[in-house]
Amino acid sequence: MSDEYKKTADAVRRERSITREQLACLLGQASSRDEEYLFAAARETAETVFHKQVYLRGLVEFTNYCKNDCYYCGIRCGNRAAERYRLTEEEILSCCDSGAELGFRTFVLQGGEDPYYTDERVCSIVRAIKERHPDCAVTLSIGEKSYESYKKYYDAGADRYLLRHETADEEHYAKLHPAVMSGAYRKQCLRDLKAIGYQVGCGIMVGSPFQTIDTICEDLVFMQELQPHMIGIGPFLAHKDTPFRDEPNGSVETTLRLLAILRLMFPKVLLPATTALGTADALGREKGILAGANVLMPNLSPVSVRGKYLLYDGKICTGEEAAECNVCLRNRIERIGYRVADSRGDHPDFA
Ligand code: SAM
Ligand code: FES
Repeated sequence: MSDEYKKTADAVRRERSITREQLACLLGQASSRDEEYLFAAARETAETVFHKQVYLRGLVEFTNYCKNDCYYCGIRCGNRAAERYRLTEEEILSCCDSGAELGFRTFVLQGGEDPYYTDERVCSIVRAIKERHPDCAVTLSIGEKSYESYKKYYDAGADRYLLRHETADEEHYAKLHPAVMSGAYRKQCLRDLKAIGYQVGCGIMVGSPFQTIDTICEDLVFMQELQPHMIGIGPFLAHKDTPFRDEPNGSVETTLRLLAILRLMFPKVLLPATTALGTADALGREKGILAGANVLMPNLSPVSVRGKYLLYDGKICTGEEAAECNVCLRNRIERIGYRVADSRGDHPDFA
């Protein structure tokens, strides 16, 4: 094993911070034994906080309409080939009801930025879910809004908010998004969400076009400043009807190492092994947990719309019913020696 690799992993674990050189070392050339050392350190760190528990979040992808045109995203408004859909409040509630039956205690409502869902409609949906399932957490992931809107959703009962910052580097941000979108505003949204009292998640795609060690370094600095409760990372995967159709996919290896680094830097953070990771590698989600992740987000959306929420090509689990995904994931977790938690799975500082 490389002495430098081991020393670097130990230092990041001890200091809970990382320099550019350390990041380059941990993401650079490494033997499988080096890598395993990093993953084992991350697993141990997760275990001291979460005791081999994995949290499940039921994901409801309730609209694929979006007013934005992010260059990487399969449901961008410019993609005329996407078949659009919206779920009604009743349909969303029915997804949550079946999720609750299956034992989920968190529902994540995710969608494009769809103006149809006014603040009034979002609040009504959140209130209805909390009324029917007062023991469950509601996470929103519906993009950039004003402080006032975020506050309304929070007052209606929303507990958490996921908004990947995508990249902390402004120049990189401008290469991934049209000029009307601003990385600075996205970061401000995250700060607003935190100030309001949400458990907040930021994150990036690993291997997005034009990403470098330096931009990842900036991401880690931003995360240290924000101190998010959740961090969502998964490989960038190309979608055939986007401007990035010919860009190479992000690497599973780098995603796993970055998950491990994040676990070492943020021991208490909620860290999903994402569907994108499971798409890029059939055992990607298991590998993610074994690299320090502790959250999985099975899909609760009706099968009739699953194949339409396609952010990237080849997305897994588009044909299965929620109950099938539930059994499959629970088995996968048990097979690697972990167990599904039956609590809401709040961040330790919120529990
Ligand atoms: N509209 C909301 C927002 O902007 O946060 C939520 C939906 S958005 C599709 C959720 C996340 O999907 C994005 O933050 C992005 O990181 C990820 N994503 C989009 N396109 C992707 C791709 N081609 N490969 C991997 N992840 C992608
Ligand atoms: Fe809006 Fe992807 S461009 S969700």
